[in-house]
Amino acid sequence: MKLKEYTLSLSICLTLLLSPMILNAAAPAPAWGTKGMVSSAHPLATEVGARVLEEGGNAFDAALATSYVLAVVEGYSAGIGGGEFWVIRDAKTGKMTAIDGRETAPAKAHRDMYIDSTGNTVPGMSTTGIYAGGVPGTVAAREYIRDTYGSFSRKRILEDAIKAAEDGFIVTPNQAEYYAYLAPKLGMFESTKKVMFKNDTLTWEAGDTFVQKDLANTLKRISKYGKDDFYRGDIAKEIVRYMEEQQGLITAEDLANYKINVLDPVMGTYRGYSIYSMPPPSSGGVHLIQILNILEEWDIEQFGRGTADYYHHLAEAMEAAFADRAEYLGDPAFYDVPVEGLINKEYAALLRSAIPDHWARTLEKPGNPFAFMAEDPAENPAAGHTTHLSVIDKWGNMVAVTATINTGFGSGVILGNTGIFLNNEMDDFSVSPGQPNYFGLIGSEANAIAAGKRPLSSMTPTLILKDGQPFMAVGASGGPKIITGTLQTFINVVDFGLDIQKAVSEPRIHHQWKPDYLFIDYDISPECAKVLNQMGHKLYLSTVASGVHGVMIDQESGMFYGGADPRSGGSAAGVK
Ligand code: GLY
Repeated sequence: MKLKEYTLSLSICLTLLLSPMILNAAAPAPAWGTKGMVSSAHPLATEVGARVLEEGGNAFDAALATSYVLAVVEGYSAGIGGGEFWVIRDAKTGKMTAIDGRETAPAKAHRDMYIDSTGNTVPGMSTTGIYAGGVPGTVAAREYIRDTYGSFSRKRILEDAIKAAEDGFIVTPNQAEYYAYLAPKLGMFESTKKVMFKNDTLTWEAGDTFVQKDLANTLKRISKYGKDDFYRGDIAKEIVRYMEEQQGLITAEDLANYKINVLDPVMGTYRGYSIYSMPPPSSGGVHLIQILNILEEWDIEQFGRGTADYYHHLAEAMEAAFADRAEYLGDPAFYDVPVEGLINKEYAALLRSAIPDHWARTLEKPGNPFAFMAEDPAENPAAGHTTHLSVIDKWGNMVAVTATINTGFGSGVILGNTGIFLNNEMDDFSVSPGQPNYFGLIGSEANAIAAGKRPLSSMTPTLILKDGQPFMAVGASGGPKIITGTLQTFINVVDFGLDIQKAVSEPRIHHQWKPDYLFIDYDISPECAKVLNQMGHKLYLSTVASGVHGVMIDQESGMFYGGADPRSGGSAAGVK
């Protein structure tokens, strides 16, 4: 029976999970540098970031320039029609800060907006088309970073992105395949078809120069006038004109009212390392730390890299965390998320004690983190597809930024003549209790839709210090696999002693409680898969599609190293 399930899962995943944007893993040597390092999901973007560092820019300048180029060359993952989270270290003060530029639900949004008169969710409504988008936060977040921490002009920051949009960039075979794969969605909207199709039937092909004039003009306006043009000026006017024409929900007031949040990162420790990551409305940091807390008391090295023993314990810890995610996580401005309990080491010990060593459980329900809160809980400070980039500079500034428009090309809608893809982040809410979203994640009241609320995210931009000094900046794309990809990369470095390139390339697993499958990478050995199956894990063989990008400093030599996930086709580049 178990073997049959395994074989069945193989065929399911081959048909359902093969995303053309995900390449097979391999591990060349890490990129190196002596004065800084950038890693991102596209070589053009990485090169721009490294050049900014070479010109004397700091990690914030480099991350901004890289992000804007990604918005042009990797428009399926992230862009100015989406949202993003930054976790940063300011070298001048040593202070760690999290910037929440997540999309918000428009004022007209409401809890049952995707439910029809018979009480059923309307298929596709939260993922495709004009109703799927939240109010974008990306430009506001970037302008805050530039104003507060940047040293370069807006003109210089946006220059390379404008050039890439105006002169075009060469479409790679992998990108062309992805465009063609998404052509049915992209072809649904006239404004999108105009940009993404080279003729009536074909999206841009490998080797084509893909020019985005409208996007170039929009970026030029941002370069000249800053965020005001996006939220109140001509860009806003065109967004609203298109929204009204298409009877969408986002209004001029929604745009004008958008605000970022400046937060304290969620913080944990693991084997002497200090971990700073994204707090709610992301679930990423909380569950990264929760899983590390569960793992910390086990001898991971002793389990052995790539063994069933290791993957079993890892999977069970992931499952416990994701069960809690489904129940307790949401926008802290609308719901009291028990962060303190969830990242408490004694709570982790309780969850650990329920994990059997040799067989897989069927976990029925979440844990109870409330028992591990102080009586008077500390006030919360703020109370695909996606892309991640990491930068550390020679001064010790550190940046981990994860940006998204959610799934490939977001809602599929280009907003009128702006060249901007509207996100489909509304699908990250739980559109109805127990109803899985695009990523199969379920949620509760904590993540129900409400006007002005931020949908729950899994994005996990993370900075790690050792002895108080910069060690690593890391994060990933890939929906819920962001959390588990970031986690495994860190463990690969700390517990298994891998270099950062090997650490991001290693085969990975993923468990998110529901559906009750253990996702395992193709590269995991059949022998190991068989043992996991015999332990009772229901295997789902796939490419575990998250793209991890990490940079780190060897504190002894002062050398910088970078790793780019071969699954996302990106690169890392150091400043020599
Ligand atoms: N849209 C993916 C995430 O934020 O988790």
